[in-house]
Amino acid sequence: MLNFPSILESIGDLDKTQIDGLLKLAEKFKFRTSLTTNFTTTRPVVATLFLENSTRTKHSFFMAIENLGGRHMDFNAEKSSLSKGESLEETLLTLYSQGVNACVIRSSDNALLNPLKQNPPLRVINGGDGTNEHPTQALLDLFTMQQWEGEIEGKTIAIMGDCLHSRVTHSLVKLLPMYGAKVIISGPRSLCENYAKSENLPYVEKAKDCLQQADIIYLLRMQLERHQESFGDLSQYNKDFGLSLKLMKDVNKFVPVYHPGPCNIGVELDLELLRSQYYRGHEQVKHSIPMRMAIILAMLENGDKTVGTFANLSSY
Ligand code: CP
Repeated sequence: MLNFPSILESIGDLDKTQIDGLLKLAEKFKFRTSLTTNFTTTRPVVATLFLENSTRTKHSFFMAIENLGGRHMDFNAEKSSLSKGESLEETLLTLYSQGVNACVIRSSDNALLNPLKQNPPLRVINGGDGTNEHPTQALLDLFTMQQWEGEIEGKTIAIMGDCLHSRVTHSLVKLLPMYGAKVIISGPRSLCENYAKSENLPYVEKAKDCLQQADIIYLLRMQLERHQESFGDLSQYNKDFGLSLKLMKDVNKFVPVYHPGPCNIGVELDLELLRSQYYRGHEQVKHSIPMRMAIILAMLENGDKTVGTFANLSSY
């Protein structure tokens, strides 16, 4: 796994050999939860810089860093000098000077990471940026699918719901076909049809029709905080596009339901489905830790050693 990128902004930053390496490393870390030093240098520091709320991503990175034997800095964006107008680049250079080696950034801004791509001041992992991408979520989803459903080659994976505003969808449509899966898009026309067309993916409107075709469902919540216009009645959305345990049982095959979380019970799914054997969301959360351990270790140990040396300071 040589030349791992210094900034993981998109699935497109990785090639298949690198992703295969991450999957292998995650497999190795699957049962390892005790604190062991895995680094060749003194315990590195990884900061989590979350400008948007998170339960899963932030805390699983925290656990992953701890499990690797690294140190964690919980950067408090609201109380930081970002609120006084300091730029992100200057903030990261400041963190670097304090000994931080890598940073996980979550933001609602699609373009926030763009200026960092040429000369990152330290290693940067995208923890979800607006409606752009969520590459580490997609990687842990692939890892979980392989663990639970076997190889995904030849399988049909239906991404259902608010595909237009889903950053994880935008990473999954790049990743899953690399492993031979066929991706289909399903949900309301306004949130899916043009998106499917733009990605050259089949579109199936109704959940029931989609369930007949799919081997795996990847269900999304309505990401209303990212909508430009009001969507309307969510109880009608639930009737038209929501999944229930009853609907799953009506299909004459077992179709597991993945969900990146957080879930909105009574909107995209019902409580009975969430608590049933169909639901894989908690397995995704479990598998997020070994996959994020793999990502951190690969980036810190196999990346460009000149990153964070101030070599490119003038570009800021
Ligand atoms: N899947 C995901 O990104 O969840 P959080 O927003 O809780 O991190």
